[in-house]
Order: sequence, then C-alpha cells, then structure tokens
Amino acid sequence: MDHKPLRAVLFDAYGTLFDVYSVGLLAEQLFPGQGARLATLWRDKQIEYTRLVTTSNHGAHYRPFWTLTQNALAYAIKAIAPEARGDGWPAFEERAGRLMNQYRHLSAFPENREVLQALRERGIVTGILSNGDPEMLGISVRSAGLEGLLDHVISVDGIRKYKTAPEAYALGEQATGLACAQIAFVSSNAWDALAATWYGYRTLWVNRLNLPFEELGTQPHRIGTNLRDVLEML
Ligand code: LAC
Repeated sequence: MDHKPLRAVLFDAYGTLFDVYSVGLLAEQLFPGQGARLATLWRDKQIEYTRLVTTSNHGAHYRPFWTLTQNALAYAIKAIAPEARGDGWPAFEERAGRLMNQYRHLSAFPENREVLQALRERGIVTGILSNGDPEMLGISVRSAGLEGLLDHVISVDGIRKYKTAPEAYALGEQATGLACAQIAFVSSNAWDALAATWYGYRTLWVNRLNLPFEELGTQPHRIGTNLRDVLEML
C-alpha cells in the first residue's frame, strides 16, 4: 500500500501508557478475593458512562472523566458489595478514596520512555489523545516522568464529547495540523483502535492482555504486544 510518511504518533492514555489494571492490586487488598473483578467492572462501567453521556440528550449529562471514574467506582463497589448500597455507602468511602488516589498515580508501562525518546529522535511529533481531563492527565504524565517527551497532551474535555465521537478523534488533527493519514494512533483498547481506524488514522492496537480484536469487520493497521511496535510503522 502507498502511504504518506507518518509525521506524528498519538497515544491513548489509560491502559496504553498508564497501567489501569495496576489498581487491581490495591483493590485486592481492600476487597480480598474480588480485586480483579472490581477492577474490571470499574473499567467497563467507566467506558460505558463515557458513551452514555456522549450519546444521550445532546451531551447535557457530560461530566469530566475524573468524575465519571469516581461514579463508575461507586457502581463497581456496590455491584460486588451489596452492603455498600444506600445507607451503607459511608463505610466504603475511605476505600473508594484510596482507589481513586491510586488511579491518579497509575504506574506507567516500562517501555514508554524509550519509545517516546526514539520517536522524538526521528523527528516524529508525539502526543496523548485521551478521554482523561487535563488535570488527571497532567498528574499522570508528571508521575510517569513523561513531561518533555510529549509535544501534545490532548484532552476531549474541551469539546465535552468522549471517544469514540469523531469530534474527539478530530482533536488530534487539529492539534498537530496534520491529516489523519499522517498520524499513527496507538491504543491498547480494541474499541479505541477500531474507532480510530474508522476515523482514518493509521492504527496500532497494543494487545497487552492477549484478547481478540473487535468483531466488527475492520482490523487495525497493525497489532502489537507493547509500544515498541509503533517504531515498526515508521
Ligand atoms: C483514554 C482512555 C479511553 O485515555 O483509555 O482515552
């Protein structure tokens, strides 16, 4: 296939640069035997809520990603611990607070820095294009020591529409001034890699969890197991 050379690489944040499943460890301490289930329910509900507020009632129910993440955690705790429902919630607030604090300081995947450095050495523009709100993205980028390696940290918060709305993916073109065909979009979330492919980006799905890809008829341009695979796309 004849492609224009790639000029920029944009990364999804949560699950791609920052390890969301690392909260499972603390979840397991706080809810023994149920940590993995809680972490998965939390993540799934968080994404479901982004879609609910983006597609319902012309965005009237938009809330920043931090708030949706808190709301999703309350749901997940109540799903695994029925005693947390209704009047029982205050007894769970401290644990919820600790999990949110952990989410603020997620561990970064080990290859992040070297990959971002390699991209910059090759003159490739780098950035994040995320559902996260600017404050939480800023904290995660700083805790992971990635400031200085990213040209753009793009949040959908300014347009109040979450991925997979096309307006959210368009922010990557607007920020870089490049066409989507010159931009690689990297996500470990299959739904995100799929929607970015539909939008027109060159995509890498980082299949960190050894899952099948979405069954909707479109494949990402490349499938890898960690961020280093993006260097093969250049
Ligand atoms: C993000 C979520 C979807 O960073 O991972 O946009």
